[in-house]
Amino acid sequence: MTALTLHVSRSLGRRWAPGDEIIVTSMDHEGNVSPWLLLAEDLDLVVRWLPFNRDSWRIEPEDLRALLGPRTRLLALSAASNLTGSINDVAALAALARSAGALTYVDAVQLAPHRCIDVQALGCDFLVCSSYKYFGPHLGVLWGRRQLLQELTAYKVRCAPDEPPWKWETGTPQTELLAGLAACVDYHDWLGREVRDAGSRRARIEAAYHAVIDHEAGLATRLIAGIQAIPGATVHGITDPGRVAGRVPTVSMTHARIPPAQAAQRLARQGVCVWSGHNYAPEVVKHFGIDEATGVLRIGLVHYNTGEEVDATLAALERALT
Ligand SMILES: Cc1ncc(COP(=O)(O)O)c(C=O)c1O
Repeated sequence: MTALTLHVSRSLGRRWAPGDEIIVTSMDHEGNVSPWLLLAEDLDLVVRWLPFNRDSWRIEPEDLRALLGPRTRLLALSAASNLTGSINDVAALAALARSAGALTYVDAVQLAPHRCIDVQALGCDFLVCSSYKYFGPHLGVLWGRRQLLQELTAYKVRCAPDEPPWKWETGTPQTELLAGLAACVDYHDWLGREVRDAGSRRARIEAAYHAVIDHEAGLATRLIAGIQAIPGATVHGITDPGRVAGRVPTVSMTHARIPPAQAAQRLARQGVCVWSGHNYAPEVVKHFGIDEATGVLRIGLVHYNTGEEVDATLAALERALT
C-alpha cells in the first residue's frame, strides 16, 4: 500500500500547482500521510490537517467541511484506524470532498479484513489495501476510477503498456503473489459457502463478511469489557458495546504503570503476540497526548480467533499488568 501510494501521489502531483491544497488526517497510518507530505514539499502544496473527533473516534463531516476550499485537490483518508479501530463514514466524507471538486484517496488496509468493500458505494476515487491483512500474501492492491487511471501519467518504463492496469504494474509481475491473492479470494468464497452455499461468488463473499462481522463484534465486546475491568487500564477507542458496529476488533490500550513495550514482552512470554508503540500512526498517538515513543499496546483480533482465546489473552494481560 505504501509503495502504491508513493507512486500514485507522484502521478497526481503532475496535475497540481504550488498553493494547491491537500487534506491529510490525524487518524491515518503514515502510509497515507507521508507520501502526501513529501509531495507537498516537492510541489509547494498547502497541507491541511483534519483531526478526528475524540468523542466519536472518527472524522466528522463538519470538521472536513471547514477545511475544504476552491483549491482543495485531495482528501487522503483512512477507512478504519489501525490504532483505534474506528471506522469512518467514507461515503459521506468522499461526497463532501467531491462537492468541493477534490479527489478522495482511501486507505482501506485496516478495514478490508473486517468489512466487504464496495468502492462504488463509497464514492471514492482511489482505494488501496494490502492482501496480507486479509489473509493473503504481501501484495498491495490499488483500485482507481478507470478514467483517472487512464488519464494519469504512471511512473513506468517507456516500453511498458500505456493502458491500465498494466501501466500501473511496474516491472515483472509478481506472479506467485498474484496466485496467492487469487487463493485468498477463494478462501473468502469458501468461508461464505460454509455460511450460505448459494448465489454468486460476490454474494458468498458478502455472506462470509456478514458472519465475520457478527463473530468479531462478540469478540471485540468481550475483549474491551475485559480490559476495562483491569485496574489502571484505558482503552483508546470506541468502548460502548452499542457502538461496536462502528469499529473493527483492533483494540489499543495503555496502563497507568506498565509501559506498552514491557506489557507486550510479558504477553509474548505467555505466547500472546501483540504490537506496542505508535504502530506507524504517530499522529493518532500524539492526538491522545501520549508520547510517540511509548505509544500503546495494540491487540488485534480476526475472525479465526475464539472467545476462549480472548479469555486467555485477558488472563495473560492481567498477569502482565500486575
Ligand atoms: C491502516 C494501514 N495503512 C497502511 C499500511 C501500510 O501497508 P503496507 O504494509 O502494505 O505498505 C498499514 C500497515 O500496517 C496499515 O495498517
